[in-house]
Amino acid sequence: MQPLVIAIDGPSGSGKSSTSRLVAERLGLAYLDTGSMYRAIALGCLDAGLLEGPDLDGIITFTRDACLDVGTDPASPSITIDGVDVTTDIRRPEVSACVSTVAVVPQVRAILTGQMRRIVEQTGRIVLEGRDTTTVVTPDAQVRVLLVANQDARMARRNAELDGISHADLTDQVVRRDRDDATVSQFETPAPGVVCVDSTEMTLDEVADAVIALVPADLR
Ligand code: DC
Repeated sequence: MQPLVIAIDGPSGSGKSSTSRLVAERLGLAYLDTGSMYRAIALGCLDAGLLEGPDLDGIITFTRDACLDVGTDPASPSITIDGVDVTTDIRRPEVSACVSTVAVVPQVRAILTGQMRRIVEQTGRIVLEGRDTTTVVTPDAQVRVLLVANQDARMARRNAELDGISHADLTDQVVRRDRDDATVSQFETPAPGVVCVDSTEMTLDEVADAVIALVPADLR
């Protein structure tokens, strides 16, 4: 089988994760949630007390020394850090609230980008999703998509996912986090060669169809 890399980028709530998992399942590909790696590092740094300040040298050293093991089955993605399964804990609101603190550190991005590229190389046929995947992590991917949706749709999707979340927390997760992340990565306008898919008025199935339609037939 020839290698096939599909990279999907986009702001919070644009449907990156659901779309990527569905595309991976339909095409029998591995799935890499790159955000889970930033979340695992943020959780570790939070527990180690490195985010007050923040202690940038401490965060960089922690990232360099941490052993991440990412499970790439789209039906049950998982992640461990130093042998501890944090698949559930990385979704805690306090991790969502602080993950930008580590994600904006260029050295952290460089270390995790190297690890992502190794996973892509090892698996060969994969959908990876997250900031910078289309432009920095795998700019040579055969399919590169920027998934967008208007802010109302993105807030509504996050609201449905995080049942019972307050309006303030929701705004923090969607609007504030994207604004912070936008200082180091560009994910609102497509880079040259990246196809923009606007999912505002589309169902999940329709978005997955649109992505699969971009895959050259001989690579499916
Ligand atoms: O997609 P997510 O919400 O799980 O991402 C968590 C955080 O990590 C978010 O602040 C964006 C950041 N991130 C990043 O900077 N680069 C990536 N490739 C993936 C996520």
